[in-house]
Amino acid sequence: MRALRSMIAGVLMGGLAIATPAVGPALAAGDAPTPPAQNWSFDRIFGTFDLAAAQRGFQVYSEVCSACHSMRLLSYRDLAGIGLTNDQIKAIAAAVTVPQGLDDQGAPKEGPGTPASRFKRPFPNDVAARAGNNGALPPDLSLLSNAYLNGPDYINGVLTGYSDPPAGFTLMDGMNYNKYFIGHQIAMPKPLSDGQVTYADGTTASVEQMARDVVTFMTWAANPEMVERKQMGVRVILFLLLMTCVTYAVKRKIWADVH
Ligand code: HEC
Repeated sequence: MRALRSMIAGVLMGGLAIATPAVGPALAAGDAPTPPAQNWSFDRIFGTFDLAAAQRGFQVYSEVCSACHSMRLLSYRDLAGIGLTNDQIKAIAAAVTVPQGLDDQGAPKEGPGTPASRFKRPFPNDVAARAGNNGALPPDLSLLSNAYLNGPDYINGVLTGYSDPPAGFTLMDGMNYNKYFIGHQIAMPKPLSDGQVTYADGTTASVEQMARDVVTFMTWAANPEMVERKQMGVRVILFLLLMTCVTYAVKRKIWADVH
């Protein structure tokens, strides 16, 4: 028992020891201001995803972010969740070339994607991803929206927070100044500029608009069940309220004759 306990403590301390140095220097390099809170369609208990925004966000992801960032947890058929039709999904999947297991000689095979294929990854592995990005790893975006406190505001802040460094600020080689990234130096070059994509629905593609749209898409990707979850929560509360009334009525009936 004691051995087990000290083993668990050891593992926990080990975890801390590994985690601390990673956080320390980054924080020491200068605290980033809190990105401004945005008004999101998915906020609050009755919030739902603005599907038009999520679809535009998917366009931004595919045309811009997917050059560097993977979204490994998504398959093309998941896009039905933001309102794409089966035919649209088939066409999107068929336009990419993805790994398809092995051929009969045992060599890796590639072919057009199907709705069941996972999103195409820009790099075959993390080493290749770092090599293509000045040594920095572009994180997978599948769950990033959930990875930070107020993740949507944070990502929106990073995407819109680029500017020239203030006087006296020394940028390291290959780094870019960003107001909201911790330490203010980020390896990702400014990914969005006005008019970078042409939206099919005619929305003006300003940096702010594209950032909001891609954040909506990423938040949906990380929480595809959110709307159902919230609705279920409301139903459970209503049910509990109803049951409280019923049990109270039953209690009054049972104890009615006891004075
Ligand atoms: C040219 C490659 C490239 C493109 C294009 C790109 N990124 Fe990045 N991104 C990176 C790299 C590299 C990092 C890691 C930066 C670092 O660690 O300094 C990064 C970091 C980020 C971060 C910060 C992650 C964190 O944990 O703080 C976010 C958010 C992000 N990218 C979102 C996006 C979105 C959304 C798009 C599309 C609009 C995009 N990126 C386009 C390369 C790219």
